[in-house]
Amino acid sequence: MSDVNVRVYNESDTMGGMLEKKLIIGNWKMAPVSVREAKSIFVHIKKVAGKLLHVQTVICVPSVYAHEVGRAVTGHRCVSGVQNIHWETEGAFTGEISATQAVSIGAQYAIVGHSERRAAGEVDEDIVKKIKAAVKAGLTPVVCVGEVERDEEGEYVGVLKAQLLASLEGISRKVMDQVVIAYEPVWAIGKKATKKAEPDDVAEIVLYLRKTLIGKYGKALAMRTSILYGGSANADNTESFLRDGGVDGLLVGRASLDPKQFCTMLKIADTLMKNK
Ligand code: PGA
Repeated sequence: MSDVNVRVYNESDTMGGMLEKKLIIGNWKMAPVSVREAKSIFVHIKKVAGKLLHVQTVICVPSVYAHEVGRAVTGHRCVSGVQNIHWETEGAFTGEISATQAVSIGAQYAIVGHSERRAAGEVDEDIVKKIKAAVKAGLTPVVCVGEVERDEEGEYVGVLKAQLLASLEGISRKVMDQVVIAYEPVWAIGKKATKKAEPDDVAEIVLYLRKTLIGKYGKALAMRTSILYGGSANADNTESFLRDGGVDGLLVGRASLDPKQFCTMLKIADTLMKNK
């Protein structure tokens, strides 16, 4: 197993203490439309991200660009990841990429179980296999959970708990120690978002997810598991989500393709952690 995991992003300061960081992950989805543009956005982001002591930046790129972007990575403060992996190492799986292949071109993180993939048929059993494959290959899996809609009775909370537990079914403590969770309410994601998520509400859900993790893995492991928020995160709401949302970072879609805005978000996260 490589030494790439969520704890590694906390680097030592000059006095030998640990610098705590926020984890900000960009998810470019199926964009931009050329590798040239992808490289140029990444290099722009890297220039800023590479200087920030209190933020770990990750850009999850379309796999066709992963090699080129992976080559542009310098240092450990701004690294690359992929948006999906297959659980097998190699074989007759047309169109898929394996965790091992992703690692071979420099990827360090993999999004697993994004709602857009779940909507396309990915099930919890697949997600469990992908988490295991990712960690075995040395990738940090970023496991997405989130309710599709909210009901007045609050049943979505139970749905969310069931989804989290099913996505982690049979995942050992050792593997869990490498996992990042992203809470992404589907109704708050993308252009089709029907409502804005509020930081206070996210904080409650994150607490609930953490309690669920405590029940399964015990307090120590659950408390050190990074939980991110994702869904229309942008430069205007970064501060409130990071300050009041009780999260360890953000999973950012659209805003991560706008390098200027994304860099503003990274700087906000850095300042917040610096002044903590
Ligand atoms: P968004 O996407 O920031 O564009 O809403 C978030 C995601 O799907 O991860």
